[in-house]
Amino acid sequence: MKLQLEDTRDLGLATRSIHCGEGVDAETKAVRRPIVMANSFELNSTSETLPESFAWDNTHQYNYPRSRHPNARYLEERLAGMEGAADCVVFASGIAAVSGMFFTFLSAGDHLISSRVCYIGVHGFLVEHLGKRFGVEVSLVNTGDPVEVRAALRPNTKMIHVETPANPTTHLSDIAAIATIAKQAGVLFSVDSTFSGLVTQRPLSLGADLVVHSLTKYVNGHGDALGGAVLGGKALMTRIRDAASIHLGGTLSAFNAWLLLRSAVTLPLRMQRHCENGLQVARFLEGHPKVKFVRYPGLESHPQHAIARQQMCGFGGMLNFALLGTQDECFKFLAGLKIITHAVCLGHAESLVQYYPQLGDHPELGVLNYPEDIGEGFLRLSVGLEDAEDLIADLRQALAAV
Ligand SMILES: Cc1ncc(COP(=O)(O)O)c(C=O)c1O
Repeated sequence: MKLQLEDTRDLGLATRSIHCGEGVDAETKAVRRPIVMANSFELNSTSETLPESFAWDNTHQYNYPRSRHPNARYLEERLAGMEGAADCVVFASGIAAVSGMFFTFLSAGDHLISSRVCYIGVHGFLVEHLGKRFGVEVSLVNTGDPVEVRAALRPNTKMIHVETPANPTTHLSDIAAIATIAKQAGVLFSVDSTFSGLVTQRPLSLGADLVVHSLTKYVNGHGDALGGAVLGGKALMTRIRDAASIHLGGTLSAFNAWLLLRSAVTLPLRMQRHCENGLQVARFLEGHPKVKFVRYPGLESHPQHAIARQQMCGFGGMLNFALLGTQDECFKFLAGLKIITHAVCLGHAESLVQYYPQLGDHPELGVLNYPEDIGEGFLRLSVGLEDAEDLIADLRQALAAV
């Protein structure tokens, strides 16, 4: 018999990643979930039961797949089980999840406090669209300092949002401390926990109301699907379904939902390896004479290592470092890599590195967006699942050319 979400609370993460949202298909008895491509579902046909077909809080009723479909629902159950959330809503991408969440809870005239350093796409959405076009007041602050967060509160503040660890700098925010500030102020508190991959930190248990993930990264892990999710209490999820899934329509496809459900099975195992490799590669880079600095939450030298130890149970595979040398030498380093690929995205099985050059004509490509955090030579590295010795050898030989 299929485990209900409520029955899985005391199970270990590996068990939940395999069994939540899984079950035997009623019609075929298949022990894997089928892909349901239908774009319409039969409705209940009595005056008593018809409203049930449209009840957004009844998560197993389907009518039209933009609001919900079976593959999305299986994935939502798995992710809710893994994150320790009462419920989850999945989206077509991480940005669809982030924008769906903000459009659900914020209106013109409201005030949002958010991390100054966050994924560039989220930063652009908050400043250029939510702020300039939709009339939400947005304060970008150093959420690594709870005093700055408290000082930024206004009478019309409705939400505090932090990204921790932040993309691309691995800057950390103290989730429990900010949750206390949010509770005292009576505002919603959301955490973009993408870098943790639902494994290395539990924002909801530290007091956050909402957790958001780009599933494109660690949950997918194989570099072949986009996806996003918001997780939290049932009432908040019902509001997101009603406002965002139905009226914004960033719906995850059935096929991508199936791919992500399959990928989530190995997520705890993969993340364990990302953490082991991340630490070994970070230690190697830290000892290299051509490296200016390394930032990895698991290194004692990370400025917020104490926060990492307090709120994370593993430090993941994301790090950044800077090369000593000119821009030409950075490009030489990238061209010299044989195993690690110069590409965007992160959390894949294969290691990916991204360079943030100071290209004045193309600020979107570079450091100009984060002038206080990033200087010339800055690289973000997503440490993959290869053998750590091979990654270190690849970095060593490419650094020799600099
Ligand atoms: C922290 C973070 N949040 C959100 C996103 C957006 O996710 P997606 O690319 O799936 O839209 C990203 C993408 O890199 C990210 O790193």
